[in-house]
Amino acid sequence: MFNLTTADLNKKIVSFADGPASFNAEAKTAGYDVTSLDIVYQFSTAEIKGRINETKEIVLEQTRRNAENYNWHEIKDITELESIRMGAMETFLQDYDQGKREKRYLIHEFPYQTPFAENHFDLGLCSHFLFLYPGLGCSFHLETLEEMIRICQEVRVSPLVDLDGTRPEFFQRLMEELGERYTVAVCQTDYAFLKSENSYLSIMKAE
Ligand SMILES: C[S@@+](CC[C@H](N)C(=O)[O-])C[C@H]1O[C@@H](n2cnc3c(N)ncnc32)[C@H](O)[C@@H]1O
Repeated sequence: MFNLTTADLNKKIVSFADGPASFNAEAKTAGYDVTSLDIVYQFSTAEIKGRINETKEIVLEQTRRNAENYNWHEIKDITELESIRMGAMETFLQDYDQGKREKRYLIHEFPYQTPFAENHFDLGLCSHFLFLYPGLGCSFHLETLEEMIRICQEVRVSPLVDLDGTRPEFFQRLMEELGERYTVAVCQTDYAFLKSENSYLSIMKAE
């Protein structure tokens, strides 16, 4: 999804709006340094587990309705997708309490400023948050991306489309504004679960 190389994985990474994903837990097991930020980390393990169970059917039904928007090559069908997603969330839940104690899961709400100094992290990743909800608007996206890049050397964001597979109308304006201060590029990736998306946005500071 983000063309992560071994060199990338060995960087100091922050994962924005990481939610109940298994990335941090798996990275910890593999010996990598990942910090996750999300508003949902204000809740306990039991509360997040309850919310996952409550929303599971809704999310699956949404995917079922939009099934033609996805490539069913690597993941065969909705049943396999459900099992992969629930497995990932279970890995997260198993790791969550310890990860909170180790400050790997931190509560944060964008677009507010994070507590980190400039360039605290080498690489920031953001999946299924920005661009997925274009209703948040251009200013929200710009302020959030500005804060993300303030604390990182590079930020990668994917997907760049909403649930209908459409790029928000403000995408070009955002690229131009960020392009005045940073190197911005839309990079191709091999990961293509969404038919309309096989790319991520890279925003990079000069060395
Ligand atoms: C669809 S989930 C994506 C989770 C994970 N990145 C992934 O790809 O599986 C979106 C996440 O964004 C978080 N979120 C929503 N609004 C936020 C905000 N203003 N600041 C930080 N996180 C937010 C939600 O709590 C949720 O965990």
